Amino acid sequence: MRIITTIAEMHAQIETWKNADQTIGLCPTMGYLHEGHASLMDYSNEDNDYTVASVFVNPIQFGPNEDLSKYPRDFERDCKILEAHGVDVVFHPEPEEMYFPDFCTYADVDVVSDTLCGATRENHFRGVCTVIAKFLNVVQPDKIYFGKKDAQQLAVVRRMVRDLNFDVDVVGCPTVREEDGLAMSSRNVYLSPEERKAARILSRTLRLGQDMIREGCSDSKELLDAMKTNLATEPMADIDYVEVVDGISMQPIETFGKGDVVAMAVRIGATRLIDNFTVGDMAIEIPEV
Ligand code: PAF
Repeated sequence: MRIITTIAEMHAQIETWKNADQTIGLCPTMGYLHEGHASLMDYSNEDNDYTVASVFVNPIQFGPNEDLSKYPRDFERDCKILEAHGVDVVFHPEPEEMYFPDFCTYADVDVVSDTLCGATRENHFRGVCTVIAKFLNVVQPDKIYFGKKDAQQLAVVRRMVRDLNFDVDVVGCPTVREEDGLAMSSRNVYLSPEERKAARILSRTLRLGQDMIREGCSDSKELLDAMKTNLATEPMADIDYVEVVDGISMQPIETFGKGDVVAMAVRIGATRLIDNFTVGDMAIEIPEV
Protein backbone atom coordinates (compact mmCIF):
# COMPACT_ATOMS: atom_id res chain seq x y z
CA MET A 1 0.00 0.00 0.00
CA ARG A 2 1.38 3.39 -1.02
CA ILE A 3 1.00 6.48 1.15
CA ILE A 4 0.83 9.67 -0.92
CA THR A 5 0.89 13.11 0.65
CA THR A 6 1.03 15.46 -2.34
CA ILE A 7 -1.44 16.28 -5.11
CA ALA A 8 1.34 16.09 -7.74
CA GLU A 9 2.23 12.50 -6.77
CA MET A 10 -1.44 11.57 -6.67
CA HIS A 11 -1.97 12.95 -10.19
CA ALA A 12 1.02 10.91 -11.46
CA GLN A 13 -0.36 7.70 -9.90
CA ILE A 14 -3.86 8.32 -11.32
CA GLU A 15 -2.43 9.00 -14.78
CA THR A 16 -0.68 5.61 -14.76
CA TRP A 17 -3.91 3.82 -13.83
CA LYS A 18 -6.04 5.76 -16.33
CA ASN A 19 -3.54 5.08 -19.14
CA ALA A 20 -3.96 1.38 -18.39
CA ASP A 21 -7.80 1.73 -18.51
CA GLN A 22 -8.12 0.78 -14.84
CA THR A 23 -11.11 1.82 -12.72
CA ILE A 24 -10.69 3.69 -9.44
CA GLY A 25 -12.83 3.77 -6.31
CA LEU A 26 -12.40 6.54 -3.73
CA CYS A 27 -13.32 6.23 -0.04
CA PRO A 28 -12.98 9.61 1.67
CA THR A 29 -12.43 9.47 5.44
CA MET A 30 -11.18 11.63 8.29
CA GLY A 31 -9.34 8.66 9.78
CA TYR A 32 -9.74 6.98 13.16
CA LEU A 33 -11.22 4.17 11.15
CA HIS A 34 -13.77 1.61 12.28
CA GLU A 35 -15.59 -1.28 10.61
CA GLY A 36 -18.02 1.13 8.96
CA HIS A 37 -15.14 2.75 7.05
CA ALA A 38 -13.62 -0.65 6.31
CA SER A 39 -16.86 -1.75 4.68
CA LEU A 40 -16.56 1.17 2.21
CA MET A 41 -13.12 -0.13 1.16
CA ASP A 42 -14.59 -3.64 0.73
CA TYR A 43 -17.37 -2.33 -1.54
CA SER A 44 -14.83 -0.33 -3.54
CA ASN A 45 -12.53 -3.34 -3.93
CA GLU A 46 -15.40 -5.40 -5.30
CA ASP A 47 -16.34 -2.73 -7.85
CA ASN A 48 -12.99 -1.31 -9.01
CA ASP A 49 -9.48 -2.23 -10.11
CA TYR A 50 -7.92 0.15 -7.58
CA THR A 51 -9.06 1.68 -4.31
CA VAL A 52 -7.84 5.00 -2.93
CA ALA A 53 -8.75 5.99 0.65
CA SER A 54 -8.20 9.53 1.82
CA VAL A 55 -7.35 10.18 5.45
CA PHE A 56 -7.70 13.91 5.98
CA VAL A 57 -9.26 15.80 8.89
CA ASN A 58 -10.76 18.59 6.84
CA PRO A 59 -10.44 21.83 8.82
CA ILE A 60 -13.00 23.79 6.81
CA GLN A 61 -15.92 21.54 7.75
CA PHE A 62 -15.48 22.24 11.49
CA GLY A 63 -17.20 25.21 13.10
CA PRO A 64 -15.40 27.54 15.55
CA ASN A 65 -16.94 25.70 18.53
CA GLU A 66 -16.35 22.20 17.16
CA ASP A 67 -13.76 19.59 17.96
CA LEU A 68 -11.10 20.01 15.18
CA SER A 69 -8.07 19.89 17.50
CA LYS A 70 -9.63 17.13 19.61
CA TYR A 71 -10.76 15.03 16.64
CA PRO A 72 -9.33 11.54 17.28
CA ARG A 73 -6.34 10.60 15.10
CA ASP A 74 -4.20 7.47 14.79
CA PHE A 75 -2.70 7.26 11.31
CA GLU A 76 -0.56 4.21 12.02
CA ARG A 77 -3.56 2.20 13.18
CA ASP A 78 -5.59 3.51 10.21
CA CYS A 79 -2.92 2.26 7.78
CA LYS A 80 -3.07 -1.24 9.26
CA ILE A 81 -6.85 -1.32 8.72
CA LEU A 82 -6.56 0.10 5.20
CA GLU A 83 -3.89 -2.39 4.22
CA ALA A 84 -5.94 -5.28 5.64
CA HIS A 85 -8.87 -4.11 3.48
CA GLY A 86 -6.90 -4.07 0.25
CA VAL A 87 -6.49 -0.32 -0.21
CA ASP A 88 -3.90 0.48 -2.89
CA VAL A 89 -3.18 4.11 -2.08
CA VAL A 90 -3.80 6.23 1.01
CA PHE A 91 -4.01 9.93 0.22
CA HIS A 92 -2.91 11.70 3.40
CA PRO A 93 -2.18 15.37 2.67
CA GLU A 94 -1.38 18.08 5.22
CA PRO A 95 -3.95 20.91 5.36
CA GLU A 96 -1.37 23.21 3.67
CA GLU A 97 -1.29 20.85 0.66
CA MET A 98 -5.07 21.09 0.28
CA TYR A 99 -5.64 24.79 1.08
CA PHE A 100 -3.53 27.73 -0.04
CA PRO A 101 -3.20 30.40 2.67
CA ASP A 102 -5.48 32.67 0.60
CA PHE A 103 -7.92 29.89 -0.40
CA CYS A 104 -11.35 31.42 -1.08
CA THR A 105 -13.27 29.10 -3.46
CA TYR A 106 -16.03 26.87 -2.13
CA ALA A 107 -18.63 24.38 -3.38
CA ASP A 108 -21.86 25.24 -1.59
CA VAL A 109 -25.13 23.31 -2.00
CA ASP A 110 -28.26 25.27 -0.99
CA VAL A 111 -31.56 23.78 0.23
CA VAL A 112 -30.32 20.21 0.80
CA SER A 113 -27.70 21.59 3.23
CA ASP A 114 -30.08 23.88 5.10
CA THR A 115 -31.99 21.41 7.31
CA LEU A 116 -31.04 18.77 9.92
CA CYS A 117 -27.30 19.02 10.75
CA GLY A 118 -26.90 21.96 8.35
CA ALA A 119 -29.35 24.06 10.39
CA THR A 120 -26.97 24.19 13.37
CA ARG A 121 -23.54 23.41 11.84
CA GLU A 122 -22.92 26.59 9.87
CA ASN A 123 -20.76 26.03 6.75
CA HIS A 124 -20.27 22.35 7.63
CA PHE A 125 -21.59 21.04 4.31
CA ARG A 126 -19.84 23.80 2.39
CA GLY A 127 -16.60 22.44 3.87
CA VAL A 128 -17.55 18.83 3.05
CA CYS A 129 -18.56 19.66 -0.54
CA THR A 130 -15.43 21.70 -1.14
CA VAL A 131 -13.06 18.98 0.02
CA ILE A 132 -15.00 16.31 -1.91
CA ALA A 133 -14.91 18.45 -5.08
CA LYS A 134 -11.15 18.75 -4.61
CA PHE A 135 -10.73 14.99 -4.04
CA LEU A 136 -12.80 14.31 -7.19
CA ASN A 137 -10.44 16.52 -9.17
CA VAL A 138 -7.31 15.01 -7.64
CA VAL A 139 -8.29 11.31 -7.73
CA GLN A 140 -10.74 11.31 -10.69
CA PRO A 141 -12.49 8.17 -9.38
CA ASP A 142 -15.14 6.20 -11.27
CA LYS A 143 -17.01 5.68 -8.01
CA ILE A 144 -16.96 7.41 -4.63
CA TYR A 145 -18.23 5.68 -1.46
CA PHE A 146 -20.09 7.17 1.52
CA GLY A 147 -21.82 5.64 4.54
CA LYS A 148 -25.60 6.03 4.76
CA LYS A 149 -25.19 6.91 8.44
CA ASP A 150 -24.44 10.45 7.23
CA ALA A 151 -27.65 10.55 5.18
CA GLN A 152 -27.62 14.31 4.68
CA GLN A 153 -23.95 14.31 3.65
CA LEU A 154 -24.77 11.65 1.05
CA ALA A 155 -27.75 13.66 -0.27
CA VAL A 156 -25.72 16.89 -0.39
CA VAL A 157 -22.82 15.24 -2.25
CA ARG A 158 -25.21 13.58 -4.70
CA ARG A 159 -26.75 16.98 -5.43
CA MET A 160 -23.36 18.64 -5.92
CA VAL A 161 -22.23 15.85 -8.26
CA ARG A 162 -25.43 16.22 -10.30
CA ASP A 163 -25.49 20.02 -10.36
CA LEU A 164 -21.78 20.47 -11.17
CA ASN A 165 -21.64 17.53 -13.64
CA PHE A 166 -18.90 15.56 -11.91
CA ASP A 167 -18.44 12.31 -13.85
CA VAL A 168 -18.57 9.91 -10.90
CA ASP A 169 -21.05 7.41 -9.40
CA VAL A 170 -21.89 8.20 -5.78
CA VAL A 171 -22.40 4.94 -3.86
CA GLY A 172 -24.24 4.92 -0.53
CA CYS A 173 -23.23 2.00 1.72
CA PRO A 174 -25.25 0.51 4.62
CA THR A 175 -24.64 1.74 8.17
CA VAL A 176 -22.51 -0.66 10.20
CA ARG A 177 -23.65 -1.11 13.80
CA GLU A 178 -22.22 -2.35 17.07
CA GLU A 179 -23.84 -5.52 18.43
CA ASP A 180 -26.26 -3.49 20.55
CA GLY A 181 -27.38 -1.36 17.60
CA LEU A 182 -25.26 1.80 18.07
CA ALA A 183 -24.14 3.08 14.67
CA MET A 184 -20.35 3.00 14.35
CA SER A 185 -18.75 6.43 14.48
CA SER A 186 -15.28 7.79 15.22
CA ARG A 187 -17.00 9.99 17.81
CA ASN A 188 -18.15 6.97 19.88
CA VAL A 189 -14.71 7.01 21.59
CA TYR A 190 -15.76 10.20 23.39
CA LEU A 191 -18.50 8.34 25.30
CA SER A 192 -17.89 7.30 28.92
CA PRO A 193 -19.06 3.75 29.77
CA GLU A 194 -22.27 5.20 31.23
CA GLU A 195 -22.85 7.39 28.16
CA ARG A 196 -22.07 4.47 25.85
CA LYS A 197 -24.90 2.55 27.52
CA ALA A 198 -27.25 5.53 27.29
CA ALA A 199 -26.41 5.92 23.56
CA ARG A 200 -28.38 2.76 22.81
CA ILE A 201 -31.50 4.93 23.02
CA LEU A 202 -30.82 6.18 19.45
CA SER A 203 -31.06 2.79 17.73
CA ARG A 204 -33.86 1.68 20.05
CA THR A 205 -35.85 4.73 19.03
CA LEU A 206 -35.17 4.13 15.34
CA ARG A 207 -36.37 0.59 15.83
CA LEU A 208 -39.57 1.91 17.41
CA GLY A 209 -40.04 4.15 14.35
CA GLN A 210 -39.47 1.22 11.99
CA ASP A 211 -42.01 -0.88 13.91
CA MET A 212 -44.63 1.91 13.68
CA ILE A 213 -44.07 2.21 9.93
CA ARG A 214 -44.36 -1.54 9.47
CA GLU A 215 -47.69 -1.29 11.30
CA GLY A 216 -48.89 1.32 8.80
CA CYS A 217 -47.91 4.73 10.19
CA SER A 218 -47.20 7.32 7.47
CA ASP A 219 -47.87 10.51 9.44
CA SER A 220 -44.71 12.38 10.42
CA LYS A 221 -46.15 14.05 13.53
CA GLU A 222 -47.47 10.79 14.96
CA LEU A 223 -44.12 9.08 14.30
CA LEU A 224 -41.99 11.92 15.65
CA ASP A 225 -44.10 12.38 18.80
CA ALA A 226 -43.65 8.70 19.65
CA MET A 227 -39.92 8.78 18.88
CA LYS A 228 -39.34 11.93 20.96
CA THR A 229 -41.28 10.44 23.88
CA ASN A 230 -39.07 7.37 23.67
CA LEU A 231 -35.86 9.43 23.56
CA ALA A 232 -37.05 11.34 26.64
CA THR A 233 -37.01 8.09 28.65
CA GLU A 234 -33.19 8.33 28.63
CA PRO A 235 -32.17 11.12 31.04
CA MET A 236 -28.72 11.51 29.40
CA ALA A 237 -30.21 12.11 25.94
CA ASP A 238 -30.62 15.70 24.76
CA ILE A 239 -32.42 15.93 21.40
CA ASP A 240 -30.92 18.21 18.75
CA TYR A 241 -33.45 17.10 16.10
CA VAL A 242 -35.67 14.22 15.08
CA GLU A 243 -37.17 14.76 11.63
CA VAL A 244 -38.80 13.02 8.71
CA VAL A 245 -37.42 14.47 5.47
CA ASP A 246 -37.72 13.91 1.76
CA GLY A 247 -34.90 11.52 0.83
CA ILE A 248 -33.61 13.74 -1.99
CA SER A 249 -34.19 17.34 -0.88
CA MET A 250 -33.83 16.73 2.89
CA GLN A 251 -36.87 18.99 3.48
CA PRO A 252 -39.31 18.10 6.29
CA ILE A 253 -42.51 16.41 5.11
CA GLU A 254 -45.90 15.83 6.76
CA THR A 255 -46.59 12.38 5.32
CA PHE A 256 -43.92 10.04 4.15
CA GLY A 257 -43.28 6.98 2.00
CA LYS A 258 -40.53 4.90 0.39
CA GLY A 259 -37.20 6.69 0.04
CA ASP A 260 -37.90 9.31 2.72
CA VAL A 261 -35.53 9.51 5.67
CA VAL A 262 -36.16 9.44 9.43
CA ALA A 263 -33.11 11.14 10.97
CA MET A 264 -31.98 12.22 14.41
CA ALA A 265 -29.14 14.01 16.17
CA VAL A 266 -28.94 13.50 19.91
CA ARG A 267 -26.38 14.66 22.43
CA ILE A 268 -25.26 12.12 24.99
CA GLY A 269 -23.24 14.22 27.43
CA ALA A 270 -20.98 16.38 25.25
CA THR A 271 -21.05 13.97 22.29
CA ARG A 272 -23.43 14.62 19.42
CA LEU A 273 -24.50 11.39 17.71
CA ILE A 274 -26.50 11.02 14.49
CA ASP A 275 -28.44 8.10 13.08
CA ASN A 276 -31.22 7.47 10.57
CA PHE A 277 -33.06 4.99 8.39
CA THR A 278 -34.64 5.21 4.99
CA VAL A 279 -38.30 4.23 4.70
CA GLY A 280 -38.56 1.11 2.53
CA ASP A 281 -34.90 0.27 3.16
CA MET A 282 -35.50 -1.11 6.61
CA ALA A 283 -33.43 -4.27 6.36
CA ILE A 284 -31.06 -2.66 8.87
CA GLU A 285 -31.42 -4.90 11.88
CA ILE A 286 -31.47 -2.87 15.05
CA PRO A 287 -31.18 -5.53 17.76
CA GLU A 288 -33.70 -5.52 20.61
CA VAL A 289 -31.48 -5.07 23.69
O1 PAF B 1 -17.74 11.78 6.61
C1 PAF B 1 -16.58 12.19 6.75
O2 PAF B 1 -15.73 11.56 7.39
C2 PAF B 1 -16.18 13.52 6.12
O3 PAF B 1 -17.24 14.41 6.16
C3 PAF B 1 -15.62 13.38 4.70
C4 PAF B 1 -16.68 12.82 3.75
C5 PAF B 1 -14.40 12.46 4.70
C6 PAF B 1 -15.19 14.75 4.17
O4 PAF B 1 -14.18 15.31 4.93
